[in-house]
Amino acid sequence: MMKKIIIVICVIALLGSLHFIFSGRKLGDPAEYQGLSSVDVGKKAFSNLKCDSCHKMDDPSKLGGSLKGILGKEVEFVDGSKLIRDEAYLKDSILNPLAKIVKGRTGVMIPFKHYFYPKDKSPREKELNGLVAYLTSLK
Ligand code: HEC
Repeated sequence: MMKKIIIVICVIALLGSLHFIFSGRKLGDPAEYQGLSSVDVGKKAFSNLKCDSCHKMDDPSKLGGSLKGILGKEVEFVDGSKLIRDEAYLKDSILNPLAKIVKGRTGVMIPFKHYFYPKDKSPREKELNGLVAYLTSLK
């Protein structure tokens, strides 16, 4: 019991510090994305946002797994529920990754909701839609 509480506290602390680091960074200047196709915007955002530190397309053993060719394939979550991955699911997994945790993985992905929908600035939907387009393009 005690052990579980400690683990939960550690995870919260980790997420908190990651969020702090992220929110303090200047990421993805909108000018950088001008004139690019949606897929290229996504490709760039994937590297700017350091998605590639946890997702390597050619190495499923990395923390978050490969994201290659996952669209249209079934996924099972830790709570036993399943769904066929579609574009809406990809978007949800980026905004609220902790809402549905893929079975066999630890829920340590940083929630990006505040990055794409900041309270005081306009939403960064171009990057979000770009990421979905990029992931969809990976066959
Ligand atoms: C700190 C590591 C980390 C970072 C950074 C990260 N992810 Fe993840 N991601 C994970 C983990 C772990 C999972 C599996 C657990 C879960 O479902 O939340 C995951 C799951 C996902 C999934 C669902 C995968 C599936 O098999 O259905 C998508 C899509 C995704 N991430 C996209 C992204 C994108 C796009 C970014 C950058 C904006 C990103 N991730 C950044 C760790 C990370």
